[in-house]
Amino acid sequence: MTAFLPPADRQGPRYARITGTGSHLPPQRLTNAALVAQLAERDIETSDAWIVERTGIRARHFAAPGVVCSDLALEAARAALDAAGRTSADLDLIIVATSTPDMIFPSTACILQRKLGVHGCPAFDVQAVCAGFVYALTVADAMIRTGSARCALVIGAEVFSRILDFEDRTTCVLFGDGAGAVILEASDIPGILASELRADGRHADILCTPGTVAGGKVSGDPTLKMDGPAVFKLAVNVLEDAARNVLAKAGKSESDIDFLIPHQANIRIMQSTAKKLKLGADKLVVTVDEHGNTSAASIPLALDVAVRDGRIQRGHRLLLEGVGGGFTWGAVLLEY
Ligand code: UT7
Repeated sequence: MTAFLPPADRQGPRYARITGTGSHLPPQRLTNAALVAQLAERDIETSDAWIVERTGIRARHFAAPGVVCSDLALEAARAALDAAGRTSADLDLIIVATSTPDMIFPSTACILQRKLGVHGCPAFDVQAVCAGFVYALTVADAMIRTGSARCALVIGAEVFSRILDFEDRTTCVLFGDGAGAVILEASDIPGILASELRADGRHADILCTPGTVAGGKVSGDPTLKMDGPAVFKLAVNVLEDAARNVLAKAGKSESDIDFLIPHQANIRIMQSTAKKLKLGADKLVVTVDEHGNTSAASIPLALDVAVRDGRIQRGHRLLLEGVGGGFTWGAVLLEY
């Protein structure tokens, strides 16, 4: 139980800080119009107008056949390492948040480690669905501050297109593929200020992919199932709570937030959270229109977009918030 605790006389770094971000979207971009046309061929009726009005999504990216989660993660990792001025040899921890791993095992993190050409450092996956990146970042922060790691690669990467049921219009229009990564390093300059992770397994059934493998066969339905309105209602409530708790832990208030980077599932959920925190539209980072819901990848993807377009600058205070299947949710307040 004490494996992550440093010796009593050891002074750990005060903070874990993001030193570089990166992301990757597979090249195939599918607009609502293109998806609607493909679904019409299967007699599935939907429309660009419904998708935009109910979700804010206008397009998503789908990985080509044969491209797996670790392929997307690798591209995002390389971009984040470059941005941080690091190489894969500097890494002493790799965490991948994903619900669409390459295999049942080994972890996508181990496969990614091999693709990065390194070995030896701990590498593991975190499975908290759309809250996965917030979970992974919090675990990496704890390991860095207790001296178990100094330079971590933390990634959210997904190929949700592989688990969609294209006969189910209530879910198949919502999701996309992609990966986002950060390099998190030990630092005496402020970085992660506070975080909060929560879960409530009583709601496991409202968002799940219930299939599994048994006796050498897929047993049960291996496609995503969601009770959208139930998830919507829970998400709106827990995101406000998580934001307030994490601000209180850090001794900050709503006015200290420069940018809100929520999980990108539905523009209406994101705007509702921003409104409750009295944050204007200019403080809300939105990528759901172009990416769709990329589950664990959505927050680091949005973060990288806003860093690279110059909105997010060093010293800005960011509130990251994830929510998803499990039910899981959480928030991280950090200084970039
Ligand atoms: O990533 C993890 C977290 N996930 C989320 O946060 C997702 C949360 N949920 C949502 O974002 C929304 O609930 C959805 C976008 C999934 C659905 O929006 P909604 O406003 O809750 O719609 P609804 O499920 O209540 O459905 C409204 C109507 C229904 O028709 P009737 O019963 O009113 O006749 C649906 O059958 O819209 C219909 N509908 C569609 N119509 C056209 C559902 N999907 C579609 C569709 N195209 N793709």
